[in-house]
Amino acid sequence: FTPKLLAGQQVLVSAGPTFEAIDPVRGLTNLSSGKMGFAIARAAHEAGAHVTLVAGPVSLPTPRGVGRINVKSALNMQKTLGVLSQNATVFISAAAVADWRPADIAVQKIKKDGSGQVPTLGFVENPDILAGIAQTARAQSRALYCVGFAAESEDLLAHAQAKRVRKGVPLLVGNIGPDTFGQDDNALLLVDEQGSSELPRASKLQLARQLVAEIARRLPNPSPL
Ligand code: C5P
Repeated sequence: FTPKLLAGQQVLVSAGPTFEAIDPVRGLTNLSSGKMGFAIARAAHEAGAHVTLVAGPVSLPTPRGVGRINVKSALNMQKTLGVLSQNATVFISAAAVADWRPADIAVQKIKKDGSGQVPTLGFVENPDILAGIAQTARAQSRALYCVGFAAESEDLLAHAQAKRVRKGVPLLVGNIGPDTFGQDDNALLLVDEQGSSELPRASKLQLARQLVAEIARRLPNPSPL
């Protein structure tokens, strides 16, 4: 009998895009399909973890055995993850959080007034959810193993390593593009303090299972089972 790789772990996964409202009927989002994060949640559950998935607006079925909370905006997502991360031992931040949100959300639908004038949108920066959660866990001396993702259009290794340090997380996973959004397969670059390694092109579920194994062997405390 071999114990499952993540037995006894409380795994929190974020997935999908965020949706930043402009007015009651409009908003800004991005092209994240949520597939990678959902595959990770499924793989973590298969590996014996208790898994909670916090999902932005996506049309994907919840993996069997996984708890799911739907959120919309980055601020929504931050609040939900902030609470859930208090009881987590692993946080995998696969969500594509919008970098900015409209500074004001119009209470009523913004109307065309027929004059040809276009509205101007002002933006404010969204909080870095992952960096904040990692920092809070450190400040509270909680053992929370945080994993970030990066999608870059160039120089993935250098950007991923810099991002890992900037966000204060032990493992950063780069999407080896181009165009992984919405696809069923992907390839991943794993960057940690030791250096980098590649998980070659495979289905997102196969990659998720390999990533779970890579995370499991990096965890500081062996599983309690
Ligand atoms: O800085 P960048 O968006 O490239 O970083 C990507 C990583 O950081 C992902 O793990 C993503 O989930 C997380 N992130 C976040 N909050 C943001 C932006 C990104 O948690 N506002």
